[in-house]
Amino acid sequence: MDLSRTANIDDLRELARRRLPKIVFDFFDGGAEDEVTLRDNRTAFQRVRFAPGVLRDVAKVDASTEILGGPSKHPLVIAPVGGIGMGWPGGDLAIARAAAAYGIPFTLSTAATVSIEEVAEKASGRLWFQLYVLHDREFTDRLVERARAAGYEALVVTVDLPVGGKRERDTHNGLALPFRPGWRELLAGIVHPSWALSVVAAGGIPELVNLRGLAGRQRADMISTASSVGQQHDASFDDNGLARLSDLWKGKLIVKGISRAEDAERAARLGADAVWLSNHGGRQLDGAISALEALPAVAAALGGKLPVLIDGGVRRGADAIKARALGAQAAAIGRPTLYGAAAAGEAGARRALEILTDEIERTLRLCGARTLAEVGPDLIAS
Ligand SMILES: Cc1cc2nc3c(=O)[nH]c(=O)nc-3n(C[C@H](O)[C@H](O)[C@H](O)COP(=O)(O)O)c2cc1C
Repeated sequence: MDLSRTANIDDLRELARRRLPKIVFDFFDGGAEDEVTLRDNRTAFQRVRFAPGVLRDVAKVDASTEILGGPSKHPLVIAPVGGIGMGWPGGDLAIARAAAAYGIPFTLSTAATVSIEEVAEKASGRLWFQLYVLHDREFTDRLVERARAAGYEALVVTVDLPVGGKRERDTHNGLALPFRPGWRELLAGIVHPSWALSVVAAGGIPELVNLRGLAGRQRADMISTASSVGQQHDASFDDNGLARLSDLWKGKLIVKGISRAEDAERAARLGADAVWLSNHGGRQLDGAISALEALPAVAAALGGKLPVLIDGGVRRGADAIKARALGAQAAAIGRPTLYGAAAAGEAGARRALEILTDEIERTLRLCGARTLAEVGPDLIAS
């Protein structure tokens, strides 16, 4: 199968699986412990049923909308993903460019493999920066300052990672400290030549460039930094820390990693402009509720005061419509464009967005809705 024959996000996942060594694919694809939440994220969407309207003129549909007060051509946002360069050198930029081409916001991770400044310089669309709050407060504040100086529109503070999740595929594959590439990794390079050549051509294992200098590291190489990044996180970050960040940043602030209505209301009181329901793609607390199932209670508690974004398990355009109908402003995607970029760089990320946006428009038509304003709770069968 090549890119032109891919019909859905699962096909892109399969292309990525074939191109990447197992250690990299599993890092992208896997979840925590028994992967219950990883699976639930998907099944939560699959359980929801539409009650489609008919006999409506849907010759023309328009999926554009407002997200966080700015325009977006589709109800989609790119979620922050760390370590993308392990799959495709410069993959962060490839996805940012694809997002710009499709007119949707892109979120750059703290653990990105392309710098805050380079993405701002080379990608033209709406850019958000995701922040991990680290023990080293000065370092954390400098990241915020760099994002502001580079013109990022919003700061996305991730609050569901006081400690790294227990991802057992990574343990089985030896993706842990101390990582010493051995014969298995050499063999993986021979068996996956396209991946190996691209990594060698890019100068070896990529760096988490924005973390250069953290904990005295001159080079923030992907493996050792990623596996120790959980230890760098400030587990004492709480209300006070969020209020402080809100003062420091001053721009639009999004709190990512919320599952409870009460926490969403607290984030709103502390200065958040939006809440992002997420369980980190099933990579943190296994057994955590899926964002889609948490959505109705949060949307009701906020009563339209703040926009709500959700992520986790969005693999179909119809999932974004279901999220809208249940009260979200937009659905965010982590792995879909990651699989695309890991399979074929920018062309693969674009293909992921082409598939999803086509499915969104088709779903709108089939539901009898011309615009997203016509997508409401009545579209969901009770
Ligand atoms: C490989 C990988 C790395 C991730 N890195 C980050 C990160 O650096 N910061 C963050 O807030 N979330 C991170 N996430 C979580 C995503 O932002 C998002 O919540 C999740 O991927 C959504 O689920 P989905 O992959 O099913 O779309 C990561 C997810 C994956 C798969």
